[in-house]
Amino acid sequence: MDKKRVFSGIQASGSLHLGNYLGAVSNWVKMQEEYDNYFCVVDLHTITVYQEPKQLRAAVREVAGLLFAAGIREERSVVYVQSHVRAHSELAWILNCITPMGWLHRMTQFKEKSDQHKEEVSVGLFDYPVLQAADILLYDTHLVPVGEDQKQHVELCRDIAQRFNFRYGDVFTLPEAFIPPVGGRVMGLTNPEKKMSKSEEKLDDAIFLLDPPDRIRSKIKKATTDSLKEIRFDESRPGINNLLTIYQLLTGKEKESVENYFADKSYKDLKEELAEVVIESLKPLQERYKELTGEKGYLDSMLERGAERAESYAERKLQKIYRKIGLR
Ligand code: AMP
Ligand code: TRP
Repeated sequence: MDKKRVFSGIQASGSLHLGNYLGAVSNWVKMQEEYDNYFCVVDLHTITVYQEPKQLRAAVREVAGLLFAAGIREERSVVYVQSHVRAHSELAWILNCITPMGWLHRMTQFKEKSDQHKEEVSVGLFDYPVLQAADILLYDTHLVPVGEDQKQHVELCRDIAQRFNFRYGDVFTLPEAFIPPVGGRVMGLTNPEKKMSKSEEKLDDAIFLLDPPDRIRSKIKKATTDSLKEIRFDESRPGINNLLTIYQLLTGKEKESVENYFADKSYKDLKEELAEVVIESLKPLQERYKELTGEKGYLDSMLERGAERAESYAERKLQKIYRKIGLR
């Protein structure tokens, strides 16, 4: 009767955006009743690129608060901050010792990120996927719900687990990525050729979960479209395709009914209606976030409880791993 375990993580490198929500967090909320869940704000991953300490502290709380505001419930899910549970770093070291460098050289996210941060690429950034593997493997995870960009990291995690099991005996459960059929890659508004991301230079590219209604309207108004007039799903027209996909996901309608609905409408209508749908969808989340963070100490005490629950699982697992390796 044991439920299968879900683990996922989210960085605190900035505010959460609609891509994080549609690609990951909204699925965590939906899946949580069926599984045994661990959701982690991965602050140790976040510092693989320099963060100003005060901002980092605030961002960790904001991201955690948004998870609860989005509907993650303490009764069903363990929500905690990665650095509060030391076992993550300890297991990462052990996994470092069995992971071939060549495997990490193949990671496309490292290639992209190291191009962006050329002048100071840390060892931590290179090692990032190994820490991610430690996160997942500590909890005997079956399923990892993530956006498409994380598929390669979850596959690497499986490879590391298999290599460990081969050397030391059956210790780790082999996890699988769960990537939503729609929404696994929400694109940027101004640059729909690229995924929506937290990067600060392109603030109009992303809709943040805490954006007020007028910001949402103005960002969607500026979204890149094309010179055709036809409103239908078409991957060769990334701008319109992305706006329709966001609309589809937030309204829960079928593709066909979305296309029928907009058949005689203009791009301007689509943008105006989409803006209202986004505003209405985020409103309850924004209200809950305000309540939750308004009460002093409330969020912190939830995170403290989360860390205790996570630690009691992780610590036991870590002891078993130490014994298998011969460190105990
Ligand atoms: P991050 O913000 O990089 O920690 O990502 C947190 C989660 O959101 C991960 O599961 C990502 O795969 C997912 N995610 C990030 N950006 C997008 C996007 N543009 N579309 C869909 N999912 C995304
Ligand atoms: N690398 C993930 C991202 O940027 C975040 C993450 C860290 C994660 N540890 C994880 C996701 C474990 C899933 C499971 O999105």
